[in-house]
Amino acid sequence: MSKLAIIGGTGLMQLEGLKIVKRDALTTPYGQPSAEFLTGDFHGHEVVFLARHGNPHAIPPHKINYRANLFGLQQLGVERIIAVAAVGGITREMEPAHIAIPDQIIDYTYGRHHTFFEGENDPVTHVDFTYPYTQKLRTGLITAAAKADIRVSPLGTYGCTQGPRLESTAEIRRMERDGCDVVGMTGMPEAALAREVGIDYAAMAVVANWAAGKTEGEITMVEIEMHLHKGMANAAEILKAFIAA
Ligand code: HPA
Repeated sequence: MSKLAIIGGTGLMQLEGLKIVKRDALTTPYGQPSAEFLTGDFHGHEVVFLARHGNPHAIPPHKINYRANLFGLQQLGVERIIAVAAVGGITREMEPAHIAIPDQIIDYTYGRHHTFFEGENDPVTHVDFTYPYTQKLRTGLITAAAKADIRVSPLGTYGCTQGPRLESTAEIRRMERDGCDVVGMTGMPEAALAREVGIDYAAMAVVANWAAGKTEGEITMVEIEMHLHKGMANAAEILKAFIAA
């Protein structure tokens, strides 16, 4: 089995059930990763866990050092990543606490360090990104969800916004016209950097709230936390089933 990492986001700062055996505080040519890389035993299998927003400190989405995170995971010999991320739901199926395994992504972010190939010392490199998520890993997650008896959407387009603010109603309407099913703030450049370093990558998008304008009124943190709690518990069950397969 190739080495697996789990990147946890909002609502999954710690991986419950991970018996930590090693902590790596790495420094990379790109700076400091979000947190120590925790290697341990998760239900009988070795897993590396990284808290994307830091632990305990909360790094906002646009300040995360995605390059240091991906470089560090590569240094540790990680070959597969399952990313867990909180999102807002845009299309009908994407109700709060639901989970989608996205197959496509649209990048609306700006000003983030989004590539390892800056073109200074290396030849111009254009990685293929036709299928931004690794199909085999996606299939593994979908099968694991079925085994855990948790309904997930097996397809979906993730729209990644800059944050840290939530979106306006018009922005969500535009994203829906673009074909986005969910909206989050951390999917990019994480997915693209994983591709650049040759690590297989798939995501579980856990819906925390209806996106802006999809319900009456404003979005509250109380609502987000309540739904995330249930959604993340399901995400952890899927991870457990995935590991056991
Ligand atoms: N928008 C962007 N990111 C999010 C949201 C949202 O509504 N909810 C959780 N992460």
